[in-house]
Amino acid sequence: MLILAIESSCDETAAAVTEGRKVLSSVINTQIEEHKIYGGVVPEIASRRHCENISAVVEKALLDANKNYSDLDAVAVTFAPGLIGALLVGVNFAKGLALSLGIPLIPVHHLRSHIAANYIGNEELKPPFMCLTVSGGNSLITDVKDYTDFEIIGQTRDDAAGECFDKAARAMGLSYPGGVNLDKVASVADFNKYSLPKPHVEGSTFDFSFSGLKTAVINTLHNASQKGEEVDVPVLAATVRKRVCDMLIENTFLALKQTGRDTLVLAGGVSANSELRRRMEEECKKRGIKLYCPPLKYCGDNAAMVGVQAAFELASGNTAGAELNATATLPIDYRK
Ligand code: KG4
Repeated sequence: MLILAIESSCDETAAAVTEGRKVLSSVINTQIEEHKIYGGVVPEIASRRHCENISAVVEKALLDANKNYSDLDAVAVTFAPGLIGALLVGVNFAKGLALSLGIPLIPVHHLRSHIAANYIGNEELKPPFMCLTVSGGNSLITDVKDYTDFEIIGQTRDDAAGECFDKAARAMGLSYPGGVNLDKVASVADFNKYSLPKPHVEGSTFDFSFSGLKTAVINTLHNASQKGEEVDVPVLAATVRKRVCDMLIENTFLALKQTGRDTLVLAGGVSANSELRRRMEEECKKRGIKLYCPPLKYCGDNAAMVGVQAAFELASGNTAGAELNATATLPIDYRK
């Protein structure tokens, strides 16, 4: 089953050709350099660039895989969640292609595909398992019961972990994408130097909250600037990173304990964070939990993960027709 997959949910135009868990090609055209000057993604610019780039990206994915349109068995596309104008470009391109080729169109949920990045190169990984998905727009703990059966155990009440990293980094003067740069500059910290709150959601064991932490970083920087004090950015960055990791790790292990799962999977852009990986590895080893982290090149947005998840969606009967629309927000368990 040869699938052409398309991803355009944010600032990457991506296409891939996949066969089951095998990636025959993966092409990513990133707009990072253009959005950098604004300190974050400008949705209108993202949509325009997707329109300009999508044909060439798809052609290159086919060329790299040494395949033609006539070889394809299905077209898959990220249809939700994401920036609506950006998603619409991929959805409409995929729709046109599938209809003209007379092959199935498979709608793929963005977070499901982030989880599926872990299936690439890991033939033995099969549900059930516990998953922590952390990206720029989402942070959630999911019990993955089957390839297309998800139960949300905990999620953020406000900002995503990636949003907290990005905004804290921007306030510290680090360039976009902030999370990556914050991770790079963070040094071994004196965790007592800056007093940042340890986020906690009252009355909920598994939910996250990151907006208070984000505000605390901004306030710390404002206070220092008003007093004419210099901020030790590597130490502040390491303190924020520690606070975010503390919460993600604590809640994830509580969820593992409650469900009795023995496998943990990390997913999403923030799963590239060096400290999160290091500490998760340490904790999993201690507790006899098997840990999977996506290969770094498939942590961020890409279409290979879309194609891999699409094969499971198709097997479960999840296809769409010309009526398929893009959706800006949609829970991972939308199709129960
Ligand atoms: O999954 P992703 O590429 O896009 C979304 O679907 O949101 O995630 C992007 C997020 C951004 O917030 C980015 O700053 C963050 O992942 N990120 C990181 C690291 N690499 C990417 N955050 C912390 N540490 C990293 N090393």
